[in-house]
Amino acid sequence: MKLLLENIKELVQVEENPVQFKSGKQMAELITVKDAFLIIRDEMIQDFGPMSNLKDVYKDDDFLIEIDCSNRLVYPSYCDSHTHLVFPAPREKEFVDRIQGLSYEEIARRGGGILNSAKLLHNTPDEKLYHSAMERIFEMIKTGTGAIEIKSGYGLNTEDEIRMLKIIKWIKETAPVCVRSTFLGAHAIPEQYKNNVTAYVDLVINEMIPQVASEDLADFIDVFCDKGFFSVEDTERILIAALKYGLRPKLHANELGLTGGVQTGVKYNALSVDHLEHMGPGEIEILKNTETMPTVLPGAAFFLGMKLSPVRQMIEAGLPVALSSDYNPGSSPSGNMNFISSLGCINYKMLPEEVINATTINTAYAMGISDRLGSIARGKIANLFITSEMPGIEYLPYSFGSNLVETVILNGEVQSV
Ligand code: NIG
Ligand code: FE
Repeated sequence: MKLLLENIKELVQVEENPVQFKSGKQMAELITVKDAFLIIRDEMIQDFGPMSNLKDVYKDDDFLIEIDCSNRLVYPSYCDSHTHLVFPAPREKEFVDRIQGLSYEEIARRGGGILNSAKLLHNTPDEKLYHSAMERIFEMIKTGTGAIEIKSGYGLNTEDEIRMLKIIKWIKETAPVCVRSTFLGAHAIPEQYKNNVTAYVDLVINEMIPQVASEDLADFIDVFCDKGFFSVEDTERILIAALKYGLRPKLHANELGLTGGVQTGVKYNALSVDHLEHMGPGEIEILKNTETMPTVLPGAAFFLGMKLSPVRQMIEAGLPVALSSDYNPGSSPSGNMNFISSLGCINYKMLPEEVINATTINTAYAMGISDRLGSIARGKIANLFITSEMPGIEYLPYSFGSNLVETVILNGEVQSV
């Protein structure tokens, strides 16, 4: 199967020499090709370049499908490196509680929040969980996402955590997007362990992690290392146990306070530390020259009205920054990466170029797939989208609330969305 995209107004995020991620000043650098062609063979990007080169190398009859992309831009699909999109039901009642003055932490303390989702998940059949998650995934595909990390964490007992991971595996095997799975048994403290967190941490270490590993159900391990949830000490114990099974950490860190999550992530070579609303100079300093991707979740900060992560300071300090949706029922009930891009520009004062790097190559790195996805490069998987007619890259984050994604291609195949 050979597919030609021709007359592309601008081919965005092109890499002749692929990198793993972009940091500091490089975040504002974005290579594009104007008036471009792109050739997809089977599921791979085979070639691209200016239209003027196309006729010299390829004959018209070489192609099975030709798509005219006049006045349209072509982007690599978004990679969304942080979601909790397998969940039993939305939590719009808590949304109203927050409007009336309760905080996210207060709702959690009263047994709402994550514990509420865990209780419901226990009584929800696998098929229902799978189908509702797939619906969310198709909604995300329509808005340009082509790779998704999904966490467990609404089980909070061995049986339900394993069940969640098996559902994520089922999604991995059947969804057209690339899926990575993360075990998040330490997402919240179950009611019965409220006065004995150590016993729950023991359960995660002695029962859950060995089973997750023996059935090869997770690519990564996560812990909600924050005020009122798991301490640095709990987190370290869990990470040490997980590392023995080769599970690399991706941590929830510094959402609710300066609680040492970032330092713990760096110490255990986490692939990413995520949230980062509370960042001091020490947190920024320690992330420099590490393999840990600082990941900001603008949807959660927007939805919960939290203070904003100091993204400009992080970039000025030379750090990379990734932006993900955090799609979940409590703090970010949306997986729309176009909206995340708009929030990146509007709330965090990121340039459109920086936002594109933060939502493609840097998030691909944060899920361990930047060798295969996250940019337009020869030999990478052909996951991309064609926009509707638009003037240039600024127009997409500018048009917040619109969906300018017109055509989606995943694994080299045009999707009917
Ligand atoms: O990333 N902060 C921890 N976990 C999720 C929220 C999960 C929920 O509220 O259901 C987050 O925001
Ligand atoms: Fe999260």
